Amino acid sequence: MLQLETREQMHSISRRWREEGVQTAFVPTMGNLHDGHLALVRAARRVADRVIASIYVNPTQFGAGEDYQTYPRTLDADRKALEQAGCDLLFIPDHATVYPAGLDDAVRVLAAPALSNTLEGERRPGHFDGVVTVVARLFNLVSPDYAVFGEKDYQQLLIIRRLVDDLGYDIRIIPVPTVREASGLAMSSRNNYLAEAQREAAGALSRMLLEVVGLVEEAGVAVDFAAIEREASSGLQSLGLQVDYVAIRSADKLELPGENDQKLRVLVAARSGKTRLIDNMEIIRVGI
Ligand code: PAJ
Repeated sequence: MLQLETREQMHSISRRWREEGVQTAFVPTMGNLHDGHLALVRAARRVADRVIASIYVNPTQFGAGEDYQTYPRTLDADRKALEQAGCDLLFIPDHATVYPAGLDDAVRVLAAPALSNTLEGERRPGHFDGVVTVVARLFNLVSPDYAVFGEKDYQQLLIIRRLVDDLGYDIRIIPVPTVREASGLAMSSRNNYLAEAQREAAGALSRMLLEVVGLVEEAGVAVDFAAIEREASSGLQSLGLQVDYVAIRSADKLELPGENDQKLRVLVAARSGKTRLIDNMEIIRVGI
């Protein structure tokens, strides 16, 4: 596996691959890789000739008081895992490579307001602006044909699709379903913060989501979305989780669901101790 750090190196190899007609798929990450990230690498291998992964903990997407300083950094283990999963090139830029003008004077991209002002964006102001700012920069550095993102961060996935459509990037976004632990807990670098007892409670998140999916799918047109959200939320609270939201939304725009919407998504954010967990599942209403 090649390892590159500078803008010049990255540009020159992507130019060469383009000239040779080699198709590339890009997997941006913040490192501390687990099987969820590696599923993205495997999906990337299926669509393209070469897989490029990046590891960069992006300061502009962390809010004040969030875990930027303590975010787990495990480069040696990550390198081995990527190599085993079949990654061809690891790009590890430093801050000066990603933000050459410095953070204070950086050109910034604003995420589409309607998609980013709700749910995660409402609780983490500026977060998605930081995400699209770094993803746009990484896309310009790497120039891939495909880019792979996890459904684990469903709102992020929709916001990046919009970034690509709206700014006219010639990049195909490939979504990958959430990879879970045996307990159902969605894999996350932040799960390492959980103590054993908290891990069990966190497993309840996915059970609750499955229940909500079942309730909505069975209810037909007469469904009371708000009542289902309230009940799910109080169920989680009674297990000791502090719930930020349980929300049933339209799958494409994250708007409040209409009676006749067929494709919905249920999304949850909750804290177990100091660890903030997010998860989501698809809801398909047939015969509506
Ligand atoms: P990070 O949290 O490292 O996640 C990198 C990618 O892995 C994202 O696309 C995320 O959705 C995906 N992922 C994480 N856990 C997953 C799981 N359990 N199953 C499937 N996919 C999973 O998301 C970011 O980094 C950053 O915001 C980034 C896009 C790199 C910009 O800085």
